[in-house]
Amino acid sequence: MEKNVIIRAILGIVAVLVLTVGMFAVVKMLMRNQEGGDSGKLGKTLVVYYSAQNHTEVVARKIAKQLDAEVFEIRPKNEYSAEDLIWTKGDSRVAREHDDENLREVELVETEVKDWEKYDTVLIGYPIWWGIAAWPTNAFVKEQDFSGKTVIPFCTSSSSELGNSAVLLKQDAEGGSWQTGHRFASEATDEEITEWVKSIR
Ligand SMILES: Cc1cc2nc3c(=O)[nH]c(=O)nc-3n(C[C@H](O)[C@H](O)[C@H](O)COP(=O)(O)O)c2cc1C
Repeated sequence: MEKNVIIRAILGIVAVLVLTVGMFAVVKMLMRNQEGGDSGKLGKTLVVYYSAQNHTEVVARKIAKQLDAEVFEIRPKNEYSAEDLIWTKGDSRVAREHDDENLREVELVETEVKDWEKYDTVLIGYPIWWGIAAWPTNAFVKEQDFSGKTVIPFCTSSSSELGNSAVLLKQDAEGGSWQTGHRFASEATDEEITEWVKSIR
């Protein structure tokens, strides 16, 4: 009889412990989701993007919305005007920077991302300029430590593929598990974006 009481007491304590731990886990999960940016297997996700003419921005913000991710915009201190971006004009700003790599050291408004360490995955979006990532993107990745993070590049372009652009960014960055990435057309459709987001999450 006494033995039965002891066994029941032990079982009761175990049940209470299991329930308590379970409740803590559920509360923690709910709190994490409420903070935003937790995207299934990607974990806490940040979408970083550079966009000179808005196309990449539109794609990046749609991706972030679908992933419930936070967003960081790369902004050059000296923004590119429409005139600066006329790549067919030999003496335009981009054309001069393209011809002389030393001119590509673009200073950014901000390189420090708030709570950088909390992100498990960083998506990096950029336009293609002459087959590579628009160089303000390099200026950003050079300042970050991606160690322990998954990095997923994406670009927009008129016709070029992702090509070597992500590999070159990776070379400029410290650490990170860099994934292959994806190229979107400048005017990517919602369907294309949704399909891709499904494939990575
Ligand atoms: C300086 C410059 C160079 C470009 N070079 C290429 C290129 O090599 N291949 C390509 O397909 N598109 C090229 N484009 C087109 C852009 O990649 C495309 O319009 C992109 O979606 C722009 O993104 P954004 O609006 O976010 O800046 C170039 C555009 C500019 C301004």
